[in-house]
Amino acid sequence: MENLDINQLENLIGDKIFRRETIDNSKLNRIIEKVETTNREVLIKYGIDEDLLKEINIYEKVLNKSKAHPVPKLIVSGNFDGINILGLEWIEGIHPDFTKKNHIEKVFIALGKWAAEWSNQIKSDQLYASINNFGDLTNLLEKNKRNLTPILGDSLMDLLTSCIEQSEEIINNIEKMPKTLNPGDISLHNFIIDNNEKIIFIDFESCTVNPMITLVEHLGEDYGSLPNTKNNVHFALKSYLNSWNKYSAMHIEWDDFIRCQLCARVNYKIGYFNYWIKRILENKNIEETLEWVRQGQKQLELILKSPDFRK
Ligand SMILES: Nc1ncnc2c1ncn2[C@@H]1O[C@H](COP(=O)(O)OP(=O)(O)O)[C@@H](O)[C@H]1O
Ligand SMILES: [Mg+2]
Repeated sequence: MENLDINQLENLIGDKIFRRETIDNSKLNRIIEKVETTNREVLIKYGIDEDLLKEINIYEKVLNKSKAHPVPKLIVSGNFDGINILGLEWIEGIHPDFTKKNHIEKVFIALGKWAAEWSNQIKSDQLYASINNFGDLTNLLEKNKRNLTPILGDSLMDLLTSCIEQSEEIINNIEKMPKTLNPGDISLHNFIIDNNEKIIFIDFESCTVNPMITLVEHLGEDYGSLPNTKNNVHFALKSYLNSWNKYSAMHIEWDDFIRCQLCARVNYKIGYFNYWIKRILENKNIEETLEWVRQGQKQLELILKSPDFRK
């Protein structure tokens, strides 16, 4: 989509604009700009994208109602002439660097506090999103067993079947954890360390209400945007849990937490297998997809064998 012209933008935010700069226009139906008005700098996200509409809703119905949380202030929101717009306080700062211990500590302490405080405040199940990825997997395997077995191989089919057999216990373990507001898409790009060294949370397009363990379900994956060495993952999880226990009335033991985190990781990985299997069934980039599948299989086997998971 094209950038709005300056008059449209000024009308939308109700102020004169002196400078504007595009931050992101890589998405088809949404643009992010930084604009400078009479007395402040504003981040504007606008477009017709569904996810943006979701984020606007979260701001209007949840984040804006509770002042204590470290998110950019809402300046303007709504739908004008069919275009959704969200104007937020511009936060000057940097994204964390998760190769640095002190950045990991700061972010995951902030995340634990966030999870604990929201868990006391979230009343309705309005935003609750189902976490269970095993239903989809069961359907996919049942309907396509004969097609899939020669492609995926017996060992993977057996592995996935054994996961399905354990799924009730896995999901129960995740769901026994207290619910909280999951900002969604936890990664270095969605935290800003501001000029006062405070961690600010941004980007609520995939925000849901879910068990507290789902906020760290992808820790342990080899992502550049998360702590990803064994030590750093452990340190991040410790920081998250210690901070949760400091601010929450519902104490969680380390052993229990770690077992549940592995359960959440298994469920998270099953989500990927569902995606890969669908691609294979649709004949999309089979070679490339199978490589991901093989890697995923190795990682899944490691999690399932881990003594912390078996306890
Ligand atoms: N309020 C803000 N202040 C300063 N920078 C921001 C703000 N909101 C977003 N950004 C910057 O823009 C980037 C993209 O914004 P984000 O809301 O995360 O959108 P996306 O859905 O594309 O990830 C962020 O990673 C951050 O660098
Ligand atoms: Mg983002």
